[in-house]
Amino acid sequence: MRILTGIQPSGTTHLGNYFGYFKQNVDLLGEEENLLMIADLHALTSVHSGDELREYRQSLVRDFLACGFDPNKGSLFFQSYVPGHAELAWILGCVTPMGLLERAVSYKDKVQRGLEANAGLFTYPVLQAADILIYDADTVPVGKDQVQHIEMASDIAKKFNNRYGKDLLVSPVPRVVKEVALIPGIDGQKMSKSYGNIIPMFGEEKVVEKAIMGIVTDSKGVEDAKDPDESIVFAIHALMLDAAEQKDLADKYRNGGLGYGDAKKMLLETFFDYFGPMRKKHADLKESELEEAVQMGAKHAKGIASQTMERVITAVGLV
Ligand code: TYM
Repeated sequence: MRILTGIQPSGTTHLGNYFGYFKQNVDLLGEEENLLMIADLHALTSVHSGDELREYRQSLVRDFLACGFDPNKGSLFFQSYVPGHAELAWILGCVTPMGLLERAVSYKDKVQRGLEANAGLFTYPVLQAADILIYDADTVPVGKDQVQHIEMASDIAKKFNNRYGKDLLVSPVPRVVKEVALIPGIDGQKMSKSYGNIIPMFGEEKVVEKAIMGIVTDSKGVEDAKDPDESIVFAIHALMLDAAEQKDLADKYRNGGLGYGDAKKMLLETFFDYFGPMRKKHADLKESELEEAVQMGAKHAKGIASQTMERVITAVGLV
């Protein structure tokens, strides 16, 4: 089995990224062949400053390594370091029906949120399909919001195979872990930098504290019994607890006597216990370690990508 996942370098890494993405991928390392791609070409749709993109890419590599990514067990690389992605995206664009792209929910959502409606944003799913298909990846671990894109990649692979030959490209399936399919932000919507509702993993203590103390709650008083399943504070706290600890905390909510202020302080404490070692490693990592990791990853990725491209360009008649 070969696994490929991608993440856009578009700013501060948050708990949604960690539990919905980093943790899953780091946990899978070594079990299967893992390719973890930093989607810097995709980020051009929303990051419009060269200096910012450079900084975001580097900091994402640092974040990955701090979260326990081992460059000897998987390949971490920048999408732009493997030129085949853009080339394959063009070829796939020529088999992709307009109707398929017009149905993409994420395009409409992004335009509604004020992103420029350019051709790159519209054809974003074709580049994402290329990211996956160029590695013959059969499994793509993602959060719920990305499922449609993976299904589109599968449709595009089938269109390509119908036109040029059976089994040329592998049709991927999304793998969504139910418990972390959608991590809520401090307002209860999906945690996302663009919604301004994040808890940053590596942010300064004061920033983390402000975010956690700002989590939206209902107006129940200290003594009132509270339903943990209805609480955003509980939902976020539970991510960092094992099953027995979760049950304990849920009982405290149900029994009454725990006010939201104290519940948030408990969450804050758990946050610093849980992320403390990663935050330390984050501060200690050297630039040379980051560079070495992405160079190693890109070398491996390029080797696989060139074999697929050979097959593809031969099939379509470019050799
Ligand atoms: P991106 O950068 O928005 O997010 C990276 C991954 O994190 C997951 N995620 C979440 N999961 C649960 N709860 C949340 N609040 C949350 N926020 C983010 C996302 O589902 C995703 O799995 N288009 C992709 C990047 C990409 C890609 C690919 C992914 C480019 N090429 C190829 C897979 C395969 C994106 O913007 O993800």
